[in-house]
Amino acid sequence: MSHSSNLEALIRQMPKAELHLHIEGSLEPELMFAIAQRNQIPLRFPSVDAVREAYNFHNLQSFLDIYYEGAQVLLHERDFYDLTRAYLDKMASENVRHVEIFFDPQTHTDRGVPFETVIRGIHRALIDAQTAYGISFRLILCFLRHLSEEAAMQTLEQALPFKQWIDAVGLDSSELGHPPEKFKTVFDRARNEGLLTVAHAGEEGPPDYIWQALDLLKVSRIDHGVRCLEDPKLVERLRQERMPLTVCPLSNIKLCVFPEMGQHNLKILLEKGLCVTVNSDDPAYFGGYLTENYRATQQALNLSVAEVIQLAKNSFEASFMPLDIKQAYIRELDALLQDSLSKTS
Ligand code: HPA
Ligand code: ZN
Repeated sequence: MSHSSNLEALIRQMPKAELHLHIEGSLEPELMFAIAQRNQIPLRFPSVDAVREAYNFHNLQSFLDIYYEGAQVLLHERDFYDLTRAYLDKMASENVRHVEIFFDPQTHTDRGVPFETVIRGIHRALIDAQTAYGISFRLILCFLRHLSEEAAMQTLEQALPFKQWIDAVGLDSSELGHPPEKFKTVFDRARNEGLLTVAHAGEEGPPDYIWQALDLLKVSRIDHGVRCLEDPKLVERLRQERMPLTVCPLSNIKLCVFPEMGQHNLKILLEKGLCVTVNSDDPAYFGGYLTENYRATQQALNLSVAEVIQLAKNSFEASFMPLDIKQAYIRELDALLQDSLSKTS
């Protein structure tokens, strides 16, 4: 077997965690059509293929427009269940052992779908997949940053009766012009309620947005964060704090954050000692789930076995799981690395 097919097998088989996944972004066109039909919602696309052909993006906003359009087929608890279950079935087949997924309640409540319908469907699928496959999970509620802080606060109020099911709040949607500071008060409130915080920052936005997420929103992770390299002081801060970055390589290429995978800065981030993780973001839209993100990145950047394993170890380290479980996964990955090195030497 060639070196690269060995690495592909390792990537598929190694235990890994996904920490940056928008559940609405896992809606495949086939399921979009099936749900649209049973909910009798007209789609402007004549076919599944036509939907896929429309997935040509030139920046974040051009993606978001079609992502919010697709989500409009989701109405009932069963729809949110089927969406989440389909994603988790795939993750089981890729040996993903833990997921921390985002959902965007405002995308649904603004269309009249009750908050409760959304979270009940998602949560039930998470519980069922945990039973079926042993995949553990956390759930992260994201506020849409193009909307007001008052709207985010109302969403947090709706969420509090379900606080037992929610581990953290996050911040997503259109980054430019919507800095983290806009949401300081609602993030303060969420932390007072015992929730952890994360935020998308430094995907299209400048390093200053990453500083704000750290200092004002007191985040436990930065989602994306790839623009940190423009600010050496920030890189040093992230390194010293071992602040995780949930990087999404295929997303970054599809949204033109980098012109091609060979120019992605993930390997440089790793070499600078940052806690980089690999994630899929919106896999139905960006052309690959978690394994494919690792595979494409490894190939384009010629990552070593040790670097691939480091990324998987980082995914557990950066997760919100208890320390003893993190350590068990990290030991398992260290053993895989030793095994792999002894075979090739
Ligand atoms: N960035 C911001 N908002 C999003 C993304 C993203 O990559 N995916 C879904 N909502
Ligand atoms: Zn994202």
